[in-house]
Amino acid sequence: MSQLFDVEIICKTAKDTRNLATNFAQLLPHNSSIALVGDLGTGKTTFVGGLAHGLGISDMVRSPSFNILNIYSSNVSLLHIDAYRLDGSEQATEALMLNDFLIPPYHLVVEWPERLYNFLETCTFKIIFAMNDDFSRTICIRPHQPSRSTFLRRN
Ligand SMILES: Nc1ncnc2c1ncn2[C@@H]1O[C@H](COP(=O)(O)OP(=O)(O)O)[C@@H](O)[C@H]1O
Ligand SMILES: [Mg+2]
Repeated sequence: MSQLFDVEIICKTAKDTRNLATNFAQLLPHNSSIALVGDLGTGKTTFVGGLAHGLGISDMVRSPSFNILNIYSSNVSLLHIDAYRLDGSEQATEALMLNDFLIPPYHLVVEWPERLYNFLETCTFKIIFAMNDDFSRTICIRPHQPSRSTFLRRN
């Protein structure tokens, strides 16, 4: 497996964050579930923009502020969830009807993953964002062994 799959990198600018994500996208196995963990303003949405770019998606990635879920299409679909306004309950997660959208091949990337029911137990990567005193960001990419196979209720 590539060395980009278990790293801690300091990104001095938003462009560095974006480039890291673009490189990461090239190496990502299909059907990955990626938790982006970190406070507001640490660069999670910027990272998703770089990921989209690396997957050949030209749409502008923004925080899904009105809709919680954005879907971008390429040869792999990119599902971007910002769960900030969810309460972590099973009902709120089910209301997103993700079963209908998680059609392989996809990558599912989630900001505020602790607010999506069972997601942290089932993701395949955890990426942790932290702001440093000089405003650079430390980004840790960690593969994660899921303890459940899916965070959705089985039909
Ligand atoms: N490595 C970085 N260094 C400095 N600024 C960054 C870096 N990464 C992202 N930013 C900037 O931080 C701000 C917040 O980024 P954003 O991706 O919206 O954060 P989040 O989604 O975590 O709230 C944006 O202005 C973005 O350009
Ligand atoms: Mg964001």
